[in-house]
Parts: sequence; structure tokens; C-alpha cells
Amino acid sequence: MICNKLRLNSVLTLLVLLLVSGSLSASVSQKSVKEIVKSMTLEQKAQLVIGTGMYFPLPDSIREKMPPMFGGGLDTSTPYGKMIDKIRGYLPGTAGVTAEFPDLGVTSQTLADGPAGLRISPIRDGETDTYYCTAFPIATVMASSWDTDLVESVGKAMGKEVLEYGADVLLAPALNIQRDPLCGRNFEYYSEDPLVSGKMAAAMVNGIQSNGVGTSIKHFAVNNQETNRMSVDVIVSERALREIYLKGFKIAVQESQPWTVMSSYNKVNGVYTSESHDLLTKILRDDWGFKGYVMTDWGGGSDVVAQMKAGNDMIQPGSPETIKTLIEAVESGKLDESVLDTNVERILNIMVETPRYKGYKISNKPDLKAHAEVTRQAATDGMVLLENNGALPFANSIKNVAAFGNASYDFISGGTGSGDVNEAYTVSLLEGLQNAGYQTYDELKKTYETYMEEASKVQDKSKNFIAALMGGKIPVEEMALDASIAEEMAAKADIALITIGRNAGEGGDREAVEGDFYLNKNEKDLIKTVTDAFHAKGKKAVVILNVGGVVETASWSNIPDAILCAWQPGQEGGNSVVDVLSGKVNPSGKLAQTFPVKYEDGSSSDNFPGEAIKVEGAEDNTADQSGFSMMRRVPWEVVYEEDIYVGYRYFNTFDVPVAYEFGYGKSYTTFEYSNLKLSDKNLNGKITVSIDVKNTGDVAGKEVVQVYASAPGKSLEKPEEELVAFGKTALLEPGKSATLSFDIDAALLASFDEGSTSWITEAGDYTIKVGASSKDIKEKATFSVANDITVQKVSKAMVPERDFEKMHR
Ligand code: BGC
Repeated sequence: MICNKLRLNSVLTLLVLLLVSGSLSASVSQKSVKEIVKSMTLEQKAQLVIGTGMYFPLPDSIREKMPPMFGGGLDTSTPYGKMIDKIRGYLPGTAGVTAEFPDLGVTSQTLADGPAGLRISPIRDGETDTYYCTAFPIATVMASSWDTDLVESVGKAMGKEVLEYGADVLLAPALNIQRDPLCGRNFEYYSEDPLVSGKMAAAMVNGIQSNGVGTSIKHFAVNNQETNRMSVDVIVSERALREIYLKGFKIAVQESQPWTVMSSYNKVNGVYTSESHDLLTKILRDDWGFKGYVMTDWGGGSDVVAQMKAGNDMIQPGSPETIKTLIEAVESGKLDESVLDTNVERILNIMVETPRYKGYKISNKPDLKAHAEVTRQAATDGMVLLENNGALPFANSIKNVAAFGNASYDFISGGTGSGDVNEAYTVSLLEGLQNAGYQTYDELKKTYETYMEEASKVQDKSKNFIAALMGGKIPVEEMALDASIAEEMAAKADIALITIGRNAGEGGDREAVEGDFYLNKNEKDLIKTVTDAFHAKGKKAVVILNVGGVVETASWSNIPDAILCAWQPGQEGGNSVVDVLSGKVNPSGKLAQTFPVKYEDGSSSDNFPGEAIKVEGAEDNTADQSGFSMMRRVPWEVVYEEDIYVGYRYFNTFDVPVAYEFGYGKSYTTFEYSNLKLSDKNLNGKITVSIDVKNTGDVAGKEVVQVYASAPGKSLEKPEEELVAFGKTALLEPGKSATLSFDIDAALLASFDEGSTSWITEAGDYTIKVGASSKDIKEKATFSVANDITVQKVSKAMVPERDFEKMHR
């Protein structure tokens, strides 16, 4: 299926947009960055730190009517206007481009989304060449692989497209914590656990940046929801902030040095993150040693002077008014020019690393074929087999497959919004089956396609507005399946597949309602009707979850014979799924987030997505909260009462039953764990944990091994256990073993003590638990810490101004 997602050609779309409020031959300068800064005028400095607006490929007549942020009202008779007019044509469809001053040796930087692949316009006016990019598996799939080498290899391929199409910085990876299953952007994020998030992000950054292009890890920080994302104030304790919400970013900064960081839209404890000196200077730079520059999210924050002072070096997408405000602030003494100089210097320090500055000759021809292979294989490693009562892999006798469910025919490769890649095609499940030589049923296909065509004509697209605007796929309601069709198919086909699809993305959260977190009636009926019909003929039925986030499974998971959580696995999706179903690949993914029994069981459910707060003189916050909320700023607050008890830290500590626990996933083979050894009984520097894993089944497979630690928790309260390390075996043939080892040091065990503002590892006895999931612990061993260890004393920062209720064990 060919997608032309960026054709914004309807007048209606443009009206709404209004509401939303080649390779340059670089004049490579021999001057040092400091000298360049000295030679720049105040105006040029302001023009560099403020983005040049967001460029949509639009006819001039329409662009003129847009606000300046979106390129309207540009005076091309001025040198600045002329420059912008030129640079915004460098890479159509990109999110942002920074100013250039060729006389000074300052080249422009092209900033493009992210994170499942490069997002640019696939077609250009007057050209027959196409510029499609690979839609790789979403971040959640990558995390479910628990394989940092694999993630790095995907990053390498992704970064190659960034380089060859002429972008300098990919606005990725995104690593916010999946605090609540309903966050609309969870698909862009990795996990509910900060260690997994940080390690995955570091691997991705290392892979992308190995091409000599940059990344922007985002959204820094505590951007865990889309509802009122521009104004929500997150009230969170210092400890939860450091241990849960910042830790992944710290790992990514220290293990991969991303070129840039993107601050988030939200406030934390009363301050916009882009205006928080505590966050962007004290923590990010002083405590962690970040060396690059920080940019805002698109339109984030409100006070450019505060942003510059905080260490938010670049404002995106920027507008001429903001440039004016900044210049006036320096002239009036509100902002010391030396602050601006530092911001400029940081941007230029990265500039000299960019392909454009170095004069890289782009090909516009990345090897999309090779990358299709990368995504096809990577996706299979992140799929999670949730249930299997002997239905998978397909027996050799299976030749004819009946595919039910809309998404079997209209497969979802990735989520919506800025994280949506403009790929050339998506392999549907049906196509995947056909490619592998299985017989499918044309009449069933026709029934589904006819239904979907009609349903999309009457679909209400206003709810998922951003998706519609940016060309994303919004699934229509599941077709109500006639039982006679199921029976007819059961007589002919060897097995049934039932695909359940979900999509979400930027600008809106999901809901704990039927048809979203919960399966709706048509979907539940579909699973039951098809399974009953196939069982009546002695045949099996398999459910495939083609989802970007967690859905409810507990009420129906015992009906089908197997459930495969395929997530949104990228453009080769159908092929990847069939590789797993057929047994070509043995699934080895495990969940990096919990599947609760009911939505309300989660620790954040009482406080998601927060509530309106009264602020004297502010915009009316009683206004309708439905519909388009992407850029609205209504006073809104969310209190993270669950504190450090996010995801499995909560479920395991408070013994709350779940559908599938963190770390869970089945295989076509079985593994035995043995011989757990600790290198020492006492922690002196580090302890090496080693474990043997043996494939005791009949087929080759890989096993994800998880290492959890239970701490004494005497003065510093601790969750029941926390993940401290993980690894994955290579492909083990039946009967073969591997030994995995992990180094555990005090830093991995430490907790944040608010009193002393330090990371402390408490004295006492610790238990190391090695397992196949957070609940399926195979072996345990203990060691001791003789005295309290202060791992690091850090800056006092981002302290909430008021007391609030926090969860305790
Ligand atoms: C998103 C970012 C994205 C940026 C540029 C924002 O609305 O939150 O993730 O990188 O737009 O497209």
C-alpha cells in the first residue's frame, strides 16, 4: 500500500493547522567556535537560538495566512527572510531547521522526527523521485527484545537514513516512563522501568550516532501523558523523580552522550521543564556531565529569558516575535549576553560535528531493502508470546489460514503523530501469510475490505485529530462478524487468526473504555465466535495483538489457543508476525510493562490524567476537554501519589494480581536455570552474578534473563524487588547452555535519600533473584553490605513546594 501521508491539501486541514498554533557546500571555517561566537551580532545569536519556524510543504498562497511559527508573514526581502526561505527547502517535511550564516561558517542543522524512523515528506512537488523511510518497530517492541545489541543495530540502520537523506539530528529516542497504560504516546516509549528505558535509549543513540549524525533524547522530563501536555504540572517527590523518571535519561546521557536533549512541554513541581535551571543545568549538566545542547519541544514553555538562563539553548520551532523578545531582553539588561553566548556556543559545538557542516554529500538513496530486512528481523525478537496451548508454531499440516479482524487486512505498523514514519508500504498480516506460501481466503478479505471502506466514510475523525492531520491510521470499529462466516471458514481453513488492532499517538491519551483499553463487544464476540467455530471442527484459533500499548486480556485470554502480542512491529509487520507463527523464528520477547487485570488495578489510575486547577485570571479551564488538546494551555495538575511504586514495583510489592507480569513472555522451547553464583558474599566494589541457562526443549531459542535485587529497606523504604541487570542468550540449540554474568555495584542498588540529597546503598542483607520474569524467579542468593555507602551526593533540585500524599508499603 503506497502512503502519501503528508499531502496536506484540504482547506479544512489548513484552517485547523492555523489553530494549532541538497546539500549546502559548507563554508567550513577554520575559526574556533569561541571565535565564531565573538564575531556574531546580537541579532545573529538570537536568530540562531530561536528556530526558523515549522515548515510544512504548502502552496505559498496558503502559507502566507499561517502564523509566523508556521512560516506565515515571512518578509523575504530581508536577509533573514531570504535565508529562511532557502534553508527550509533543505529537507521537506522535517520538524525544524536552524539558521545559517555562511559568512561566519555557521551551517544550518536539520532536525527531524523520530523515533521509529526518520520522518520526512516522501514526495516533493515536481519530482518523480520518492523519499520514503523505513518504519522500524516502535520503541515498545525494541524494549520487549531486551537486547541492546539488536537495538543498536536498528539504530545504525535508522541513522544511515538520517545521514543519506540529509538530516543532522534525529528527534529520538523517546524514553519517558510508561507510567500509565493509557498514555497515548506509550508506543514511542520503552518501558515502565527506568533501567530498561535507559539501556535501550543508550543503545539506540549509540547506533544512530555511529553514522556521524545526532540524536535528541526526549521528552526531558516527566512527560507521561498527552492530556493538557502543554500546561500540566506534575507534582512528584524528589525521590520518585530521580529513581523513576530521570534515571533512564541519566543512563542514556552517561552511556551514549546524545548530541542534544529535548525538554518536555509539562511543568514539574511548578516550573516548566524548559525553564528549569535545576533540571537542565544542575542535574543534566552538573550532576550527569551532559555536553550537548538542549532544545525545547515544539512550542514548549513560555518565557524565553527563563529558558536561556535555565540552559535550554534552543527554542523550537521559534518565531520572529521570540527573536525580538530575546534581543530586547539583552538590550534591557534582563538577560546577560554572556548567558546567550553560552547557549550559542553549545549549539555551535554540535554544529561542527554535523554532516552538513562537514560537507557530507548525501545520496538520497539509503539501502531501504537492507533496512526492511533489519526491521523484519528486529520485530520478531520483540514480539511476546502471551499464551500458547499448542497452537504455535503452526504444525506442518497447516496450509490454509483464515484471517479475521480488521487489522489483519489493515495492519498497523506504528503509532500516530510526529512519531509516524512515511514508509513506502506496510506488509499486512494477509500479505505476510501469502508471502510465506499460506493459502488465504479472497472472499473473507473482500468482506473485511468492503466493511472498512464503508466504515471509514462515516468515521468520526475528530477525536484523534492529530493522527488525521498528520496522515496516521485511525482504525475503524471492529466489524461485527456473522457467525455463519466463522462456521464456513472453520469448515475450510486449517487455523484461524484473529487480529485486534489499536492505534494512538501524540495529542491525546487513550481511555479505560470499551474499544480502547478494554476490547469492545464486537472484538470479544469475534474471539469467541471464531474460536468456538474452529474448536467445533477440532481446529485452533490464535489472537494477534497489533497494539501500541497495553490492553485488557484477563477476561478473554482463556478462550483462544494462543495469543501473540506483536505490538506495532514496523513496515514489515505481516512478514515478521508470520515468521513467528510459522516457527521460522522462536519468539523471545518479554514484556517491559505490566498487563493489569483491570485498569483500576494500576497504581497511577486514581491520578491519571489529573485535574483542572483554579488559577486566578487564567484561561477558563472548565472548557470542554475533549477533542483537540495538543496546544491548549489550561491550568492542570497531576499528583504522582504512587511515588516510586510504578508498574511492577507496585504490583509485586503490594501483591496485586496481574494478567501478565513485567518480564513475562513464553517461548516455543523451555529453559532451565542453574548454578547461580555470586563472586563474593560481601559487596566490595562489585559483585559478579553468573547463571547457567540451558535450552531443555526441542527447538532453538533465546532466553531473556532478568536480575532483580531485594534490599534491606530499613531506613530507605524499598519495593519488593527492583531490576538491576538483564541479558539475553544467543540462539541456543536444544540441549545447549550458556553462562550469563552481570556486574552489580553499589550504584545499581542505591536509592535516593531526600534528606541528604544523595544516592545511598544501605547496609544489610541483599537478595539477588535471577528469573525468567519478575514473578518467575528461578534462583536466589544473598550477599551483604557492611556499612551504608554514599554513592553520590548531588544537587538539591526540583523540590515540590507542598506536601502531598505518597504511597508507602
Ligand atoms: C512532539 C515531539 C516532536 C516535535 C517535532 C512535538 O509536538 O512532542 O516529540 O519531536 O513535535 O515534531
